[in-house]
Amino acid sequence: RSLSCHPNSPRSNKVPQPTLWLSCGCDSRPSKILLKITSTAVVGTGLGVLIFWLIFRPHWIDVHVTGVSLTEFNFIKNNTLNYNLVVNMTVHNPDGRVGIYYDLINASAYYEDQQFDTRTLTRFYQGHKNTSSLNLVFRGQHVSLGAEEPSKFNKEPTNGLYSIDVKLYLRIRLKLGRTKTSTLKPKISCDLKVPLSSGDGSFAGAFEITECDWDI
Ligand SMILES: *[C@@H]1O[C@H](CO)[C@@H](O)[C@H](O)[C@H]1NC(C)=O
Ligand SMILES: *[C@@H]1O[C@H](CO)[C@@H](O)[C@H](O)[C@H]1NC(C)=O
Ligand SMILES: *[C@@H]1O[C@H](CO)[C@@H](O)[C@H](O)[C@H]1NC(C)=O
Ligand SMILES: *[C@@H]1O[C@H](CO)[C@@H](O)[C@H](O)[C@H]1NC(C)=O
Repeated sequence: RSLSCHPNSPRSNKVPQPTLWLSCGCDSRPSKILLKITSTAVVGTGLGVLIFWLIFRPHWIDVHVTGVSLTEFNFIKNNTLNYNLVVNMTVHNPDGRVGIYYDLINASAYYEDQQFDTRTLTRFYQGHKNTSSLNLVFRGQHVSLGAEEPSKFNKEPTNGLYSIDVKLYLRIRLKLGRTKTSTLKPKISCDLKVPLSSGDGSFAGAFEITECDWDI
């Protein structure tokens, strides 16, 4: 249950805006941020402190891709893409006081900006200074619908590396003491260059751990 000091006020649902707290102090909209801090501080000091903390601590959740294997990626004649992609990630909460409820984790895989699969992961709570591992398995067939799609999926990879992006659509709530924020909806994008693996799922070069970005 999210806690708000003005449950009857319709505005309380709108605070905080994830686009704002993820945009950090380096953004070119300082006056808007200031306005938001001020209005948030009016809504509730606890929440205001939390937002303040968030704005001045960008990249507070670290997301890394620690391992990838792509054992199948074939576009067959029938407008059908066969794929078998495993992506291992870690999500790290570096803070010593704030816990995170991951209420929804939708992970989508894209090739050449074209989505071919999406998975919903099990919700969980992440405590202080904790690291969670996510194991994403995208396996199956994608049947193309649009006219443009087939040519995109058919595109040969450059240097044998497939440009695959994995995006996470999150719904999270933060917990500080007994206070919980309302739902935030950050997005995370991991841009990967993935070679097709041999049958056993390994490939010649070691995979370089890749840091993911916040999408604003
Ligand atoms: C991904 O994680 C699973 C489970 O921890 C492990 O069995 C698998 O080998 C990992 N795959 C890669 C490519 O890192
Ligand atoms: C091609 O697609 C059609 C309809 O989607 C399906 O009935 C047929 O079995 C498919 N053929 C092959 C070779 O996959
Ligand atoms: C998450 O994915 C499920 C299907 O896996 C979909 O029904 C749902 O609308 C998605 N939610 C969001 C917020 O993208
Ligand atoms: C992370 O959370 C799990 C489950 O709540 C717990 O068992 C583990 O000890 C925690 N790890 C750290 C480093 O706090």
